[in-house]
Amino acid sequence: MIIAVTNTKGGVGKTTTTVNLATGLAARNKRTLVVDLDPQGHSTRCFVQGELDQDVSDLIMEKPSQAARAVVPSEYEHLDVVGATDRLTETAELLQARIRREERLSRALDHVGDYDYVLLDCPPVLGVLAYNALVAADMLLVPVQPGVGSITGLDTLLESAAELRDEDVSDLSYRILTTMFEIRTTRTNALVEELLEEHRRRLLRTVISKSESLNQANLLGKPVVAYTSSSRGAQEYDALCEEILRLRS
Ligand SMILES: Nc1ncnc2c1ncn2[C@@H]1O[C@H](COP(=O)(O)OP(=O)(O)OP(=O)(O)O)[C@@H](O)[C@H]1O
Ligand SMILES: [Mg+2]
Repeated sequence: MIIAVTNTKGGVGKTTTTVNLATGLAARNKRTLVVDLDPQGHSTRCFVQGELDQDVSDLIMEKPSQAARAVVPSEYEHLDVVGATDRLTETAELLQARIRREERLSRALDHVGDYDYVLLDCPPVLGVLAYNALVAADMLLVPVQPGVGSITGLDTLLESAAELRDEDVSDLSYRILTTMFEIRTTRTNALVEELLEEHRRRLLRTVISKSESLNQANLLGKPVVAYTSSSRGAQEYDALCEEILRLRS
């Protein structure tokens, strides 16, 4: 299953969700691949140290038959990565001139090998890289930080996905994840209230709280389980992992 972790808003927990969900799936012996589609390369740095011979730019620009060359193992068992570097910004520009430019990732992923889960960490802009993720994905996972205007942009994202895939919005597979939830400052049902009826049934039960353990783990470039496995953040991402696994069965 290919899951695009995506939202047009920046800083809502896309990378944190990608990193920690991937680690959880791999710890459950699921063959997992993270593809970093953000030139900032934050999820790449969590999983691979040092220079990359090949990265996601090669995955997207080279022939699909060469795709597996861009995959590198992480320091975690069952978890591989296609990394991103700042080269990706130029790649996005070069892509503009290519035929079927939104389909390149999807075609490359047919050739990366056999994975139970492929997680696509998307950039916070709705450009050609995000479009590639929207075409390739079997499901969109949209992290949302509750607050005023938290779902602004959601309809545009879904409409773009539907158009790119030649589907109706109502047929899209997507789930909304509450992230950085703060019990003291957010009314419990603020997000639920804001979600219109058609989105409400897509809201995942798992809620990720705002927590210092997640923030610290990110600063150190680690999945939270590798920083403190008993923390609330680790437990909540564990619950997310179980919920995602149940979606499939
Ligand atoms: N649950 C959380 N509790 C506390 N801090 C968090 C939590 N989730 C993410 N953060 C922090 O919020 C910031 C943004 O998180 P993250 O990088 O995951 O968001 P993003 O959506 O990937 O951002 P971008 O749009 O820049 O790619 C980071 O500094 C991260 O450490
Ligand atoms: Mg990110």
